[in-house]
Amino acid sequence: MKSVRMPVPGISLGCDYNPEQWSPDVWREDAALMRRAGVDLVAVNIFGWSNLEPSPGEYRFDDLDEVIELLHAHGIKINLGTGTSSPPPWLSSRHPETLPVAADGTTRFPGGRQAWCPSSPVFRERALDLVGRVADRYGSHPALALWHVSNELGCHNALCYCETSADAFRTWLRSRYRKIETLNEAWGTSFWSQRYSDWSDIQPPRLALSLRNPAQLIDFQRFSSDELLGYYRAEAALLRARSDVPVTTNFMVTAHIRNLDYWSWAPEMDVIANDHYLDHRLGDPVAELSFAADLTRGLAGGRPWMLMEQAAGAVNWQPHNVTKVPGEMIRNSLTHVARGADSVCFFQWRASAQGAEKFHSAMLPHAGTDTVAWREVLKLSETLDRIGEVAGTEVEADVALLFSWESWWSAEGEARPSQAVTYLDQVHSAHAALRDLGVTTDVVAPDADLSRYRLVVVPGLYMVSDTDAQAIADYVSAGGRLVVTYFSGIVDERDRIRLGGYPGAFRDVLGVLAEEFAPLLPGAEVALSNGAIGTLWTERLRTTTASVIATYENGPMAGIPAITRNQHGDGTAWYVATKTDMSDVLREATGVMSDKSDTEVVRRRAGDRSYLFVINHGTEPVEHPARGHDLVTGESVDGVLTVQGGGVAVVREEIR
Ligand code: GLA
Repeated sequence: MKSVRMPVPGISLGCDYNPEQWSPDVWREDAALMRRAGVDLVAVNIFGWSNLEPSPGEYRFDDLDEVIELLHAHGIKINLGTGTSSPPPWLSSRHPETLPVAADGTTRFPGGRQAWCPSSPVFRERALDLVGRVADRYGSHPALALWHVSNELGCHNALCYCETSADAFRTWLRSRYRKIETLNEAWGTSFWSQRYSDWSDIQPPRLALSLRNPAQLIDFQRFSSDELLGYYRAEAALLRARSDVPVTTNFMVTAHIRNLDYWSWAPEMDVIANDHYLDHRLGDPVAELSFAADLTRGLAGGRPWMLMEQAAGAVNWQPHNVTKVPGEMIRNSLTHVARGADSVCFFQWRASAQGAEKFHSAMLPHAGTDTVAWREVLKLSETLDRIGEVAGTEVEADVALLFSWESWWSAEGEARPSQAVTYLDQVHSAHAALRDLGVTTDVVAPDADLSRYRLVVVPGLYMVSDTDAQAIADYVSAGGRLVVTYFSGIVDERDRIRLGGYPGAFRDVLGVLAEEFAPLLPGAEVALSNGAIGTLWTERLRTTTASVIATYENGPMAGIPAITRNQHGDGTAWYVATKTDMSDVLREATGVMSDKSDTEVVRRRAGDRSYLFVINHGTEPVEHPARGHDLVTGESVDGVLTVQGGGVAVVREEIR
C-alpha cells in the first residue's frame, strides 16, 4: 500500500445504510438521527443494483441522488458502494451462465446474494457498466469520501466450478507453469495416474469419488483469490479514472472465511477496511477480535485502518446469536481502535423490517431510540470524539506472529494426520497466550521484514517457501528469538513434503528432527514433565543441537521431547511439539512475567505523542501504572490508573 488515505479526519463513526428498504420520510428521520449520533460516514448503494437499473439499460438515480443530498446537507460524508455486490434478478434470468456453480457441479441460484461467477465476462461487463455510471454521476460530489467496491468480495462466491471458471483456471495455470510438464511436477501427477498431456484436460477440483489432488486444490484457491482480485482491480481502475477519492473494499478477516489471500490484495487498497463480528462459536470470541484487529493492521502495513462493519448487538447468522451487554460494544470498538482502527463503522444503521437480516442488530434497533442499544451508540460516539486526537498514531509492537492464508488452505487438506488439528486454533492459541501476557503482537506475512522484532512466533506454518524459511533462520542467526509450534515447515509451495524429517524447513534452526507424527485422539491427554498437559498432537522427536525443556511423561511418546530450545547463531529458537499451555515458553522468550488475561493493554504512538489503551474485560477494577490524562474520563492520572470493571481508558501519556 502506498500511503493510507482515510476518508474522514479523526476517529470516525460510520455505518451501512440501506435506504432502499425505507421510504423518504424515514430517510429524513434517519439523517437527523445520524447527526444526533455523530455519524460521520455512511455507506450507501451497497446492494443498490436492482434499484438503480430495474430493467436492463433503464437507469434510475433519483432516490440515490436524494439520499446523498440529504446526508450531505447533514454534514455526513459518503462511503459509496458501486452497487455491484448482488446482481438484479433480470441479469440472472437472462444470463444464467453468470450463476456460480458449486464443487458438486450444481448451480447456486439467485434468491440470496452474490450469485455471480467471478470469471463471468457477462457479469463483469454489466457490473462495470453500472460502476462507470455511478462514478460519472457521483465521482466529484463534495460529500463523496470513499469508494466501496462491491461488498465482501468472495463472501459466498469465491470458489466457482463452472465451465467459464474452468477455462479461466486453465489460463491462470498456463501463466503460472508455462509448460504442462512443470504443472505435472508441481501437482505430483504421477500419483494415481493423474498425469496431464494437454491443458484442456485440466478441470477445477470438482468433488470426486475419493480424495482430490491437494496441490490442485491449493492452486484453485490461489486462482480463485487472484480472480476476484482481478475483478476488484477492474472496478477500481474505472473509479480511479473518474475520481480522486480513495478506493477500497471491505475485507473479511474473520475465523470462518478464508478464501482470499489478503496479503496479495492489501497493496491494491487506498485504505484497509475490515468487517468483524464476534464469533460465539469460538472458545474466546474477544481474543479472536484482538487477533483479527492485529492481522488487519498487518494488512495495513502498521498504518491506521477502518473497521467497516461490526454489530451493535447480535448477528443473525450464527446458530445462537448472543447480544452484547452494556459496555461490551464500546469495549469491542475500543479494542479495534487500540489496535489501529481510525474508523468504527457498523452494519447497519437501522434494523431491517424485512429480508434475511431482519433479526440482525443495528445502531437503531426495531424498538427505536428509547433503548440500551441506542444509548450505547451515543456513548460510543462521545468516546470516539474524546479520543479523536489518537487518529494517525501507530500501534507499538515488538513481537510478530506469522500468518499465511496459503498455509491455512494447505494445512487443512482433505487427508492429513489429524482433522482435529486446525491452523486457526494454533494461530489463535499463540496470539491469545501473548495477549494474556499483555504483549501486543503484529500479525505479519511470512515474507515480512522481521529484523525489528525481539520475538517471532510461527504457529503451525505447514507450508513455507525456501526463501521465507531461510529469512526466518537468518533472523535467528542474527540474534532473534523464535517460537515455532507443531505441524510447521512440512511442505514447500507445491505441497511437497520436505524430506529428511520434520519440521523440514525449520529442522536446523530448531535443532530437532521428528521421525513421525503421533496425533492424539480428541479428548486424550499426555502429561508433560513441566507439569503441563499436551493434547491433540505429539511426535517422535529427537534433538540434534537443541536442549530439552519438557518431555512426555506418559503415553506412546513417554520420555521423548515435547518442548525444546536451541541456540542458533546469536539467537534462540523454541519448538513446541504438542498443543499445550505456551505461557512459560512465551514468558521465557519475551521476558514478560506479568499476566493480564482480563485486561488489554495496547499503546499507540506518533512522534512524541503516546496513548495508552487499557480495556478491562473483567468485572473487577484493575490498576495499571500510568501518568498523564485519561481522555475518556477527562481526569488526570498520577502514577496509577484505575479502570472499573468493564471500563476503558485512553491515557495521553506524559513522556519524560
Ligand atoms: C456482512 C455483510 C453485510 C451484512 C453483515 C451481517 O458483513 O457485508 O451486508 O450481511 O455481514 O453480519
